Amino acid sequence: MAFDEKIAHTLLQYPHAEEPPREIIKTPAQIEGIRKAGEINTMILDAVADMIGEGVSTGEIDRLVAERTAELGGTCACLGYQGYPKHVCTSIDEVVCHGIPDNSRFLQSGEIVNVDCTTIVDGYYGDASRMFLIGDVSEEKKKLVAVTKECLDEAVSIAKPWTTLGDFGYAINKRAKDNGYSVVVEIGGHGVGLDFHEEPWVPHIGDPGTGMLLVPGMTLTIEPMINMGTSEVFCDKEDGWTIYTEDGKPSAQWEYTLVITESGNEILSR
Ligand code: MF3
Ligand code: CO
Ligand code: CO
Repeated sequence: MAFDEKIAHTLLQYPHAEEPPREIIKTPAQIEGIRKAGEINTMILDAVADMIGEGVSTGEIDRLVAERTAELGGTCACLGYQGYPKHVCTSIDEVVCHGIPDNSRFLQSGEIVNVDCTTIVDGYYGDASRMFLIGDVSEEKKKLVAVTKECLDEAVSIAKPWTTLGDFGYAINKRAKDNGYSVVVEIGGHGVGLDFHEEPWVPHIGDPGTGMLLVPGMTLTIEPMINMGTSEVFCDKEDGWTIYTEDGKPSAQWEYTLVITESGNEILSR
């Protein structure tokens, strides 16, 4: 009751904010389950970090993710998700997200690659992605990767109860624009935990005081996709998954799963 009153009271202060549906607010036991799934998901990305490099195919990354996930007692959420054919997403350079691993696609020096992994453990989900620099990467691309990480880190420093999604969306967009980059708007983060993609949808742009109110017990991803050039993207017509930048310029992304706590947040997968 005190919780409902606090929500009602806060919404009076933020007339443009949206009320969170109660079913997305997790119990302590659910958060513990999501924490465990998130930890295992982080361990799988650590295993990717140990093997990724020049000459490694994205198909090998997919096999490593499948093996490590099984060893750790999880399942890969991506495999079969809306017909997705592989265990993980590998997105190189101008691929924004949802790149499909391929045994004949060997990573080359100078490329930047995002590996996005989602693991189910005991029915709970953890979702995270990282960027990897392959061999000798240009300063221009290194900066894109670094600024994208700063966008995520700044959002994490802002995401607290009784603030809104628009508060950190605004900060991400501002930092990207200040560096001459653009934010992908069609694809965003999401609630996560009991399912792969739950409410709310999490935009990486916004205005302070707008969007859903953050309250303790909400679990969500923040996963900004930042483009060096235009924010416009398109989907591959052949495979139905791969998202590319319209202008062919590089894109970077980092993703964490977080829980909103009483005092701020806790990163559950990184
Ligand atoms: N892991 C991605 C996300 O962050 C979703 C990938 S869906 C897939 O939401 F089917 F392409 F794997
Ligand atoms: Co993901
Ligand atoms: Co996600």
